[in-house]
Amino acid sequence: MNGTGETTKTANVVSDWSNEAQSGFRKKVVVGQHDLHTRDAFSDEALAALIERHPRDLTDFCTMGDLDEGADSWRAGDPGDLSGMEMLDAVRAGKLWINLREAMTEDAVYRPLFDQMMADMKRLNPGYKAMNAESGILISSPTAQVFIHSDVSETILWHVRGKKRIRVYPAEAPFVTDERMEAILHLEQTEDLPFEPEWDDECEAVDLVPGMFTSWPLHGPHRVQNLSGMNVSVTMEIVTPESMLKNGVLHANGVLRRRFGVTPKSSTAEGAGAYLKLAFSKMAKKMWRNTKPMPKSEKTFDIDTASESGFRDKAA
Ligand SMILES: [Fe+2]
Repeated sequence: MNGTGETTKTANVVSDWSNEAQSGFRKKVVVGQHDLHTRDAFSDEALAALIERHPRDLTDFCTMGDLDEGADSWRAGDPGDLSGMEMLDAVRAGKLWINLREAMTEDAVYRPLFDQMMADMKRLNPGYKAMNAESGILISSPTAQVFIHSDVSETILWHVRGKKRIRVYPAEAPFVTDERMEAILHLEQTEDLPFEPEWDDECEAVDLVPGMFTSWPLHGPHRVQNLSGMNVSVTMEIVTPESMLKNGVLHANGVLRRRFGVTPKSSTAEGAGAYLKLAFSKMAKKMWRNTKPMPKSEKTFDIDTASESGFRDKAA
């Protein structure tokens, strides 16, 4: 609704989705085109205002080290009382990564866009069902990166500003193993994965410019390296019947290994056996609860617009 009580109409967000993308969706790395980068909601002014009003318990301010340092170099920081514009300046000049978690679904300005994006994907991909989706906005420095990991849900990355390279590796050993996904689903590990530089020979790399979006197969390991400019992207993590079944099978296999000393024969998500495992997994989750391993949350720096990195270490 706008101020006059009329419903605001949001025209289609997806502007190109080829037959090839449609047939490969969720089976391969595919790309499409959208128009988010042309919308006022992603201007500096709109993003600065969002940073200021978005709940701080849904906002992560982070920095990270180099590729060889990996996920252990990830650090959380404190924005202090900087304005949204000052934070954008610090992102532009430094090495920072701001995640506005759930902004696309929780914020009244962005929710209509999210609804339209989901409606577009359902219309363009007959049979596509989303049971639940988490969707946020990432704002990151020209030199920021996200280390290799496998998301538990199906992912779509909508790129809005700046340039970045995403590398997607096959969702199979050695890049990610069933045992590793089981450990992630059993909340014993974060979604971070080990990495070997020579794996880059076997990845599929996509250079994202504003107006592109991409998706890849469930659990496909991926890492993201910003190339230039302040980067803005919309992330979507989507639970589908297929991802729920596959995760149910892997979780059930993990229960068999952990509780019953049995090595599972199959991790296939097809047939009656898979549905039995899904039911078994749901039962096991009720019986044995784990608490999620959180990435390091201690805030070890303050955002600082006067610093070259955009931040300053907190005093010990
Ligand atoms: Fe991811």
